[in-house]
Amino acid sequence: MVFEIVADGGCKSYVVGCEATCSAAIIDPNLNQLDRYKGIANREGLRIRYIFETHTHADHFSAAAHLAKHFGARVVMHKESPAPHVDIHVEDGHLIPLGQLRIQVIHTPGHTRDSVCYYVEDRLFSGDTLLINGTGRSDLPTGDPAQLYSSLFDKLLTLPGETKVYPAHDYKGAGSSTIGAEIEGNRRLKPRSEAEFIELMDGLNLAAPTHLTEALRTNITGGKTVQQLLAEAAESVPFISMKELNARLGQQRNDLVILDVRERDAYSTAHIPGAMHLARGQLELKVDETFPDPGIEIITVCTVGKISTLAAATLRELGFARAVALDGGMKQWREQGFPIDSGEDPALLI
Ligand SMILES: [Fe+2]
Repeated sequence: MVFEIVADGGCKSYVVGCEATCSAAIIDPNLNQLDRYKGIANREGLRIRYIFETHTHADHFSAAAHLAKHFGARVVMHKESPAPHVDIHVEDGHLIPLGQLRIQVIHTPGHTRDSVCYYVEDRLFSGDTLLINGTGRSDLPTGDPAQLYSSLFDKLLTLPGETKVYPAHDYKGAGSSTIGAEIEGNRRLKPRSEAEFIELMDGLNLAAPTHLTEALRTNITGGKTVQQLLAEAAESVPFISMKELNARLGQQRNDLVILDVRERDAYSTAHIPGAMHLARGQLELKVDETFPDPGIEIITVCTVGKISTLAAATLRELGFARAVALDGGMKQWREQGFPIDSGEDPALLI
């Protein structure tokens, strides 16, 4: 079996494939590791046929929709999964052939209603249901400690003791475990009655994961993260350094515009000398009347460099082929002691 672990901090994803046919799948891919998955597939000569998700993740950004499109692969999730980009909805006991391998679906609700584990040969990809010396939490949307108890004790822990366990999270770098080792040593599994287990889970009082709402929004809808939007914009525009812009301030050039896209009160407080003001929200509406020559060089500026990147990307899309963004923003510009003006010159307001 082709098998590779891809770690992103405590998040684990896996590339699994059939050696005889080069058919492969990625389990729980993470948006931060797109190039890794593509690199592994290339290096190993794999045809990625499926993206298996163990559940709707609330704590990291899924790469399922992106990779499915990239590889022409199908996204597999449980039938309760709400994401519109799921191609194959599966249920407990279903098998998905992958070359000569058979991936068995075990429905294990509890962490989420749509949690499944994938069982192939001697390995269990246990998602957030069973972790190494832990279990997934049951207090997030659609979680249920009673269901988690049943999924663990009635299903996963009845598998052969030598079954290798590969979870979706491994914060302590343990790598993998076995069902036998977890029965023996997993502290979360010590309460043997359902009532004791529920009491333990309900008493955990865990903090909400960071980016919870953004993760659910993007993982459920297949939409983009804010980071993705910014990264795509950043890939489509060049940047100019503060030092270089400062050097150009003294040049009286009429084909160069510094365009401050922050809100007007921020602009009035402090801006780069000679910078024009046009708030990002008005950019598309006012750009034609303001810049009749699309060949003009426009340097966009904002507070930290993100909105100016989006603005420069928009200008390029509109045909302003010389739009660039300042590398950094006004915050850094001021911290580094570059010159500023304040107030409003009507000639510079758009
Ligand atoms: Fe999870």
